[in-house]
Amino acid sequence: MEVGQEFFPSRHQEPPLVRIARNHARILDICQELERLADHLPALPDESHHLVIAQRLGATLRRVNAVEEREFLPLLVQVLEPCDVDQCVETLMEEHRQDEAFADEVAEVLLEWAVGERRYDAATVGYMLRGLFDNLRRHIAREHDHLLVPLSRAE
Ligand SMILES: [Fe+2]
Repeated sequence: MEVGQEFFPSRHQEPPLVRIARNHARILDICQELERLADHLPALPDESHHLVIAQRLGATLRRVNAVEEREFLPLLVQVLEPCDVDQCVETLMEEHRQDEAFADEVAEVLLEWAVGERRYDAATVGYMLRGLFDNLRRHIAREHDHLLVPLSRAE
């Protein structure tokens, strides 16, 4: 899927686990783009491509996280012990908010750098980019392994 394409078409008939897996794949695509950008530093972001990623990063993440919190978290009672549900929900929501805030920071840096508003040290930008996509990949892997897979088996 092209970056910038509509990520969230209305597919209300689509099962929640399918939609969540699809959204995970979208975030992983963005992670790949961020990694590619980090690998090419200190080259400046490509205006037509990386600017689109930067502009959409926070909003995309917020929409994906909102879908998960609305459709995914209520299903956790099916695969977790009752005493673990609250802790799990709290942890996932905390990670969502942290990732969103971090994504906003990265997007701001990329935008300022790309339009020449401010020059950043490439090592610092690389560190930020890698921190963000590492966090996102780790979060998605945990949701996949500990929640999506068990929920798929429970269906
Ligand atoms: Fe999540």
